[in-house]
Amino acid sequence: MPGYYSDEIIQEVKEGNDVVDVISEYLQLKRTGSNFKGLCPFHNEKTPSFVVSPSKQIFHCFGCGESGNVINFIMKYQNVSFPEALELLADRVGIQLQQSDQKEYNRKRKKKDKLLEINRETARYFYRNLSNNDLGHKYLLNRGINNDTIKTFGLGYAKNSWEDLLKYLLHKGFTQKDIEESGLIIKRKKMEGYYDRFRNRVMFPIIDVKGNVIGFGGRVIDDGQPKYLNSPETPVFSKGYNLYGLNIAKKYARNDKIILVEGYMDVISLYKFGIKNCVASLGTALTKDQVKLLKRYSDKFYICYDNDNAGINAANKAIDVFKKQGLESHVVILPEKGDPDEYIGKHGKEAFYKVLDNPYNYIDFKIYMYKKKYDISDLDNRIHFTREISKMLKNINSPIERDAYVSRISEDTNISEEAIRKEMSNKNSSRPTTSKDKYIKYNNRNNNKDSIKPVSYSLEPGHLIAEKKLLKLLIDDKNIYNRVKDNFKPESFFNDLYRKIATNVYDMYEKGLEVNSDELLDCFNDDKDINTIKKLIEEDIQISNSEKIKAVKDFINKINYYKLKIKRQKIKDQIRNIETNDNKGDVGKFEKLCMELIKIDKELKLHQ
Ligand code: GTP
Ligand code: MN
Repeated sequence: MPGYYSDEIIQEVKEGNDVVDVISEYLQLKRTGSNFKGLCPFHNEKTPSFVVSPSKQIFHCFGCGESGNVINFIMKYQNVSFPEALELLADRVGIQLQQSDQKEYNRKRKKKDKLLEINRETARYFYRNLSNNDLGHKYLLNRGINNDTIKTFGLGYAKNSWEDLLKYLLHKGFTQKDIEESGLIIKRKKMEGYYDRFRNRVMFPIIDVKGNVIGFGGRVIDDGQPKYLNSPETPVFSKGYNLYGLNIAKKYARNDKIILVEGYMDVISLYKFGIKNCVASLGTALTKDQVKLLKRYSDKFYICYDNDNAGINAANKAIDVFKKQGLESHVVILPEKGDPDEYIGKHGKEAFYKVLDNPYNYIDFKIYMYKKKYDISDLDNRIHFTREISKMLKNINSPIERDAYVSRISEDTNISEEAIRKEMSNKNSSRPTTSKDKYIKYNNRNNNKDSIKPVSYSLEPGHLIAEKKLLKLLIDDKNIYNRVKDNFKPESFFNDLYRKIATNVYDMYEKGLEVNSDELLDCFNDDKDINTIKKLIEEDIQISNSEKIKAVKDFINKINYYKLKIKRQKIKDQIRNIETNDNKGDVGKFEKLCMELIKIDKELKLHQ
């Protein structure tokens, strides 16, 4: 949708919404000099590193790096799209938004409204069918679902007929084309006409957080196939962006967790037993967008999937999806095979609560998974197991927590705590450290304020390769030198040795000479350097003449890109320095750095 609003209107909305005013509606901000400070809402922290600049109308977090203007803030905080954020902010100050392509927007909006209307009418129809049809109703009652729950979830029944719903909707005045787009009917392949997608199924309307019926799931009431059938993706229904039951669970999740289950019936059955904070993903693996959606309604999540291999593996994926979004979640493993619906049906609510009392946190669950993978009664496996766990324990920030796990693993495996600790600190314990690893480590270290040390900025492997190949082309071909000498000086090489080599190479060309390898080698004393240069001279980089010019351009682009990244890192470090020293006098400098950072981020985006 971006692009529907003109730059002028976007500017007007920004100007009307002071960044400090808006953010203050969500966080407590305190003035520090000419800026405001608070606890960052985008990552967990105890000391404030979230800074809002009224003069620049931007926010920036030194902890997690989030930054932007007032619209970006609303997008992130409310987890909404650009146009939605713009609308919210326009509403806030009474600005009438005018779309530059109003017609197109209106057309799409109208279409969506029509599809939602069809879905709503259909859900009502299915619901009425259920009370008139013994089969569907009996099926649900047999599964322990009572009428109250049927009503809350709007459960229904699709008759055992090929055109029943189609006729009903046509009679209601909807067009065949719109009904087709809703996914409720399917075009016949051999004959003219359409037939109903859902037949002889109990129906689960899928309702979004705004209360719109966006699609349906339908379950057979016998042993037919497929067991469940869902609406296809339509302009109003995207499986990866919605969760079944969230329209209900959101009301109960405010001060509680959200329990994620696999099936529609799990949500419904738990609800009937009074556990109303449950949602299910729509028959697909949990997506990051679903997690982003959940994040709006709670900050505590339990994953309670079926106790079978598929369920446990899906939970293992889901817990990582949460983690990637910076959220902690817990996994609940039912004590016996089956799903939450079966468990609570058999053992009752209290038993289910007991299970909920003992969830696995991230590390515990990963240990559980590793134990499943390695039978640790075998010595070799025990070593593998301990290695893998050690790698993970390394990343726990709290020393107390880390210690507790070390002693537990030691007990589990009979491997001494000391050995496990050694393994954890052993740099060679995983794979050999590459320069990429160093780079990552370097970045990580800088996320941790307590351990800032002066460091040299390391090169990423891609950067080094680009410099090397460019240098090689320069050495081999004076034409390349003539092409690049004005905008790529020897100083532009980041690697010390390459810079020195380039200085000599440029020198020779300037004097009107060709590059002679013996002469070049004579400029260096260090054996290691000489070796590197020899290798460089001998290396065949396999770029044909016709490709050279393009390759040179690519290398220079790459080098500039990586240099920007290093520059960004340096600025971040300077900012952090001001931050750690709480250097109040440096507010001006701080703002300048912030702006620079934003500028670099823009440039980096252009490079991608
Ligand atoms: P019940 O047998 O009614 O208890 O179903 P369940 O909720 O236990 O479902 P199950 O664990 O078999 O599957 C979990 C979820 O996966 C369901 O709620 C559906 O969303 C989806 N699903 C299951 N079977 C099918 C299928 O055959 N086709 C599709 N598209 N989705 C399915
Ligand atoms: Mn089930």
